[in-house]
Amino acid sequence: MSLKPLALFVQHDGASSRASITCQYKCGNACFHEVPNTSEGTYFGDIVADISRRRLFRGSAAAVLAVGAGSLLAACGGDEADAAEANPGTGIGTDFTPIAPNKQDAVVIPEGYEQGVVIRWGDPVLPGAPAFDFANQTAAAQAKQFGFNNDFAALLPIEGRDGSFLLVVNHEYTTEPYMFTGYTPGNPTKEQVEIALAAHGLSVVEVKGENGGGKLSPVMGQYNRRITATTEFTVTGPAAGSAFLKTAADPTGTKVLGTLNNCSGGVTPWGTVLSGEENFNQYFAGVLADPAMQAMGKRYGLGHPGAGQGEMPRRWELFDKRFDVTQEPNESHRFGYVVEVDPWDPAAAPIKHSALGRFKHEAANIYVTADGTVVAYSGDDERFEYMYKFVSSRKIEPGNTAAARKANMGILAQGTLYVAKLTGDHPDKIDGTGKAPSDKGFTGKGQWIPILETGADGKGRSLVDGMSAEEVAVFTRVAGDKAGATKMDRPEDFEANPKTGKVYVALTNNSNRGTEGKAAADEANPRNQNKSGQILELVDDHKGTAFTWSLLLVCGDPQAADTYFAGFDKSKVSPISCPDNLAFDPHGNLWISTDGNALKSNDGLFSVALEGERRGETKQFLTVPIGAETCGPVITADRVLVCVQHPGELDGHSADNPGSHWPDGGTTQPRPSVVAVWKKNGKIGV
Ligand code: FEO
Ligand code: CA
Ligand code: CA
Repeated sequence: MSLKPLALFVQHDGASSRASITCQYKCGNACFHEVPNTSEGTYFGDIVADISRRRLFRGSAAAVLAVGAGSLLAACGGDEADAAEANPGTGIGTDFTPIAPNKQDAVVIPEGYEQGVVIRWGDPVLPGAPAFDFANQTAAAQAKQFGFNNDFAALLPIEGRDGSFLLVVNHEYTTEPYMFTGYTPGNPTKEQVEIALAAHGLSVVEVKGENGGGKLSPVMGQYNRRITATTEFTVTGPAAGSAFLKTAADPTGTKVLGTLNNCSGGVTPWGTVLSGEENFNQYFAGVLADPAMQAMGKRYGLGHPGAGQGEMPRRWELFDKRFDVTQEPNESHRFGYVVEVDPWDPAAAPIKHSALGRFKHEAANIYVTADGTVVAYSGDDERFEYMYKFVSSRKIEPGNTAAARKANMGILAQGTLYVAKLTGDHPDKIDGTGKAPSDKGFTGKGQWIPILETGADGKGRSLVDGMSAEEVAVFTRVAGDKAGATKMDRPEDFEANPKTGKVYVALTNNSNRGTEGKAAADEANPRNQNKSGQILELVDDHKGTAFTWSLLLVCGDPQAADTYFAGFDKSKVSPISCPDNLAFDPHGNLWISTDGNALKSNDGLFSVALEGERRGETKQFLTVPIGAETCGPVITADRVLVCVQHPGELDGHSADNPGSHWPDGGTTQPRPSVVAVWKKNGKIGV
């Protein structure tokens, strides 16, 4: 009997415009499976009592906003940015005419702006790479070419070379039916699997600007590098060398081949790039034999026995047994981390930081307090999962030298990991409709609950009863359950505004909120069957344990009663749905890219003023082509960069019947690409 792909049997519930093919290949149909978090979070009292005994709460409960070296992260801003310093985030830098929602097969930008593709899937990155030839792909070529489905982007100025940058981009996943004509899901060739392995990972590419404008072009530079699903990584932190990570190929449990499903990321003040391994579970076939490990795996969505039946149509295990958990039960424990890459040293082994925990990391973003403590924020992108932060024990090493960078690359391996618990100020007024409970909207308080301390020797100390440090590092979701963390609506990008220190979280959506047997709406997640998501704003005691919060946006159709734009006039905002990635411009305004727009328009990029009279003013800057998701925004004074991920991924289409011809037009295949947008003779938004 031939089994049809699961995607043919699943129906969207209107919560998102994402195509079934995207759900299948991007996240292994996560939204169509039972929610992995079935915890009731009943252990909170026990944990707090135990932690108090051990005197692990530090500092006072009062929230102290420490804005310090975090401003190191501020992008170069020019005169306009300097002028905005006194009143950051007030909307200066967002003065463009917003574009209208649309379904075009194009990147649509405001009047007065220009655009250009920076680099496409398949373009050469390393010396010897052939020009892209869709019909004649090889794994050897792909390993030297730009990978598939770009998500996060970082643009790092090269010192002493005006207008030159390192572009660091990750490649979240492959969609084989869009990469190869005649592809048979569940029955790939060995070459197709090896091309897919090489199309994952990250690319480091030197790019060069042209006189005055924002256009960028790739250069075959000395830093250019491809990291793939077979590049060797070094593991740091409590998981390193633990029994959970040891495999037949790596008895040390410290050297992992490859990184998978890298979603968003962040730039560190010391010049490296972080990237989150997200839906790693979908690459692993089979069910773990050990019942305890099976239960732990299930908490991550592992163990669906559907290989080849649409569940896991890549079937890498056919050619590499490490992707079959019945043959290599620990390989899956070696993914799900924050990775750190030093783009300035092409020979340096990239790192997986287990002190930041293992979950479906969307990203990790750094804030540095006035005393040099490094705080890394990270969301776990799945329905009803948690928000985390890591606080370093060590202080940042100042300076921009290679030695300082190497020293700082150890910072994320020593410190304390926390998970967030939130309470609302108006619990009696939350009815699941999204109606704001007060003039100030949705507000509340929160507590960071410590779950894991990692020492200078890399060894951990568990702060969760009944779990070892290694277990907390590898099965962090279970530790979050035991800590009584708050179940959120898919926490994606999570980062501090370098101008104000306030911290923002994109909560994408959660169609299961309030459905039978699932957690009901609460003040931070105020809508049942939440289709369009919300943006949470924290005032965090960055290195302490207390915070206050409010909802900046409750996204959706501004004309609908269940949306909220920080009290701003809703007749003057753009509709926004499914916020995913966040970025700040040089003026301290928030920019949001979307994934899965539930309002029947293409995904896009939006600016939001955060302070003053324009707080909540939300304006659409661009849309990406049909079937695509907007990712990786970088906003500088001179240009906006976006990663256009999965253009043309529409149900009923494939490489045999392309749903998009972007970016090259005509009858060409769509290609995921990085795009630069700039203003003719001017700065972005001014
Ligand atoms: Fe890869 Fe959470 O989106
Ligand atoms: Ca994302
Ligand atoms: Ca971001």
